[in-house]
Amino acid sequence: MPKLPGKIHNPAPFFLFILLCFSFIISATSGLTFSSDVTALKAFKAAIKPSSIKPYSCLGSWNFSNDPCSIPRAYFSCGLLCSGNRVTQLTLDPADYAGTLTPLISKLTQLLTLDLSTNKFSGPIPQLYSLTNLQTLVLRFNSFSGTVPPSLTALKSLETVDLSHNYLSGSLPNSWSSIGSLRRLDLSYNKLTGSLPKLPPNLIELAIKANYLSGPLYRTSFQGLTQLEVVELSENSFSGTLEAWFFLLPALQQVDLANNSFTRVDIWKPKNGNSDLVAVDLGFNRIEGYLSVNFAAYPLLSSLSLRYNRFRGPIPWVYSKRESLKRLFLDGNFLNGSPPAGFFSAGTSVSGSLGDNCLQKCPVSSQLCLKSQKPSAICQHAYGGKPRS
Ligand SMILES: *[C@@H]1O[C@H](CO)[C@@H](O)[C@H](O)[C@H]1NC(C)=O
Ligand SMILES: *[C@@H]1O[C@H](CO)[C@@H](O)[C@H](O)[C@H]1NC(C)=O
Repeated sequence: MPKLPGKIHNPAPFFLFILLCFSFIISATSGLTFSSDVTALKAFKAAIKPSSIKPYSCLGSWNFSNDPCSIPRAYFSCGLLCSGNRVTQLTLDPADYAGTLTPLISKLTQLLTLDLSTNKFSGPIPQLYSLTNLQTLVLRFNSFSGTVPPSLTALKSLETVDLSHNYLSGSLPNSWSSIGSLRRLDLSYNKLTGSLPKLPPNLIELAIKANYLSGPLYRTSFQGLTQLEVVELSENSFSGTLEAWFFLLPALQQVDLANNSFTRVDIWKPKNGNSDLVAVDLGFNRIEGYLSVNFAAYPLLSSLSLRYNRFRGPIPWVYSKRESLKRLFLDGNFLNGSPPAGFFSAGTSVSGSLGDNCLQKCPVSSQLCLKSQKPSAICQHAYGGKPRS
């Protein structure tokens, strides 16, 4: 039977070990920072306008007469972290630093995190091929322009990429699918064009809101994305049919495709009745056809917006039977008939709107019906009748 490490019988080796640890830590922390890391940090600071560096900001404390990684820190008091004599994190404070990001940043080959969010960096994002350990790249809320560098897709440790709220343009690199480590990708609020490429296979969250992306959502882009929970692609120019495979992505929870140009949606019942889908927003598209009863087959669906499309026909009565459903926006379509009575019975707690349709007998006592219906001339026209003269 193996001896459990309980008491230390001979303390000498133990103290020797502690001593070794200490001397290692001391030599590592008081030892000089790896020289190419220092070069990179100097170039990094030099590319930022001195007038934008406030004395009490992180960069204000960077004084290269001292060693960046040494502890205790009188200088370099924030903005970077080291492990031993290597820089592993560059996380700037939001202090309106203005300037460019030097290509020499790629000398920080042990960098795990680069976060420059909420500043005024401009110019291109340099190629970062040698940052092979980088896990987190956050450049959101800056003024970076140019393209999303294709080199990003060569960084095999990346887990989080957030380049949202910049001025990035051009199309997306089409080799994302090779980054197996990537879990979160946010490129929202840029000027990206083109269609969606094949996406990284282990993605959990995809956000590319408010760009100029176009084309249909192709099945090949999403093939094998079994962990994808969040899809936020609103305010683009996606078009065509949202096909049935989409809502069957196995981990899907939240979908925001509002403000695009989709013209059709096909939705099937979830396999074996199992789905984690909670929220769907398809508002402000150009979707035609009847409302599918299959939305009501998603057991956890709590928020559904199909507002401002071109749906016609009745509201399926099963929508009022879906107890999980708490928010329902169907306003701004051409729905007709009487809305399901279940929405108005005592004890129901659905909020939202059924207004601006062609519904009859939508009880104004319900807040769902507060917004009035379309004028009957418009409805008659929509349903092929002649408008009353
Ligand atoms: C930079 O550090 C050196 C050496 O520690 C010190 O003499 C000098 O005053 C510092 N400069 C500033 C601007 O703080
Ligand atoms: C979508 O478009 C509508 C109409 O143009 C606008 O009122 C709404 O704010 C937009 N929603 C978003 C999230 O941009």
